[in-house]
Amino acid sequence: MTHKVRKAVFPVAGLGTRLLPATKTMPKEMLTIVDRPLIQYAVDEAREAGIEQLVFVTGRGKASLVDYFDMAYELERTMGEKGKALDPLASSRAGYGELVTVRQQQPLGLGHAVWCAREVIGEEPFAVLLPDDLMVGKPGALKQMVDAYARLGGNIVCAEEVAAEATASYGIVDPGATEGNATEVKGLVEKPDPASAPSRLAVIGRYILQPQVMEELSAHETGAGGEIQLTDAMARLIGRQSFHAVKVDATRYDCGSKAGFVLANCALGLADPDIAPLLRERLG
Ligand code: G1P
Repeated sequence: MTHKVRKAVFPVAGLGTRLLPATKTMPKEMLTIVDRPLIQYAVDEAREAGIEQLVFVTGRGKASLVDYFDMAYELERTMGEKGKALDPLASSRAGYGELVTVRQQQPLGLGHAVWCAREVIGEEPFAVLLPDDLMVGKPGALKQMVDAYARLGGNIVCAEEVAAEATASYGIVDPGATEGNATEVKGLVEKPDPASAPSRLAVIGRYILQPQVMEELSAHETGAGGEIQLTDAMARLIGRQSFHAVKVDATRYDCGSKAGFVLANCALGLADPDIAPLLRERLG
């Protein structure tokens, strides 16, 4: 049974250690890609996909993420008095009731972070977006997944092929039959060594999940790295509910890594007509 996906969970409590010292006092989700913070891209993608409620799972030191989506009253008033256009701020303001935050008090893993949102999610399907994975596509990655969900229902993870030696960085799919852009998921393993990986089809940071995954997460079982893994809870739904991995038409930038972050700035800068000519001239 399909049901409109109205809510999206953004696990944003992580420490961002791969980008230190930049992330020492600033959430990694607030790092800028061209002219807006990483979180803005994920929120825009969710809104485009029809998401009505944004659920941020935050932690200590992450208050600026919530402030960012608030109204900047003094700024807007001053800009208004000076006759400056407020358009650049438009998408950064959440509507009343659009943004809900819950806290993850201890860094116990991605599965635990998602579980922290269970009361807000209730009994309906929901999306999860990991803002580190910046997805550039038209329509956006989540919109493409919502379209796939309308056909397939059940649970859907976004997936892409990775190099064999990279399987230990991802959740990896044990694949069944493929039809179009969707592959049946027969199993999921979190961060397997290349030698034991069931494939090179890796889960990337976009999910559409049924609420029963919350019951599985309630067990608080730990897996790879001693953390409560979303992958393990999802794996327990296979066979009980339909489960597909969908390849979307979008480019992924891993902005939790230095190279991915710089690449994203280059790619999006080159796609911005205001600054592309200068970038092309200087970058050669
Ligand atoms: C998480 C998930 C992993 C997934 C990855 C996508 O890992 O646990 O299954 O493949 O995100 O980015 P992390 O990158 O948080 O270690």
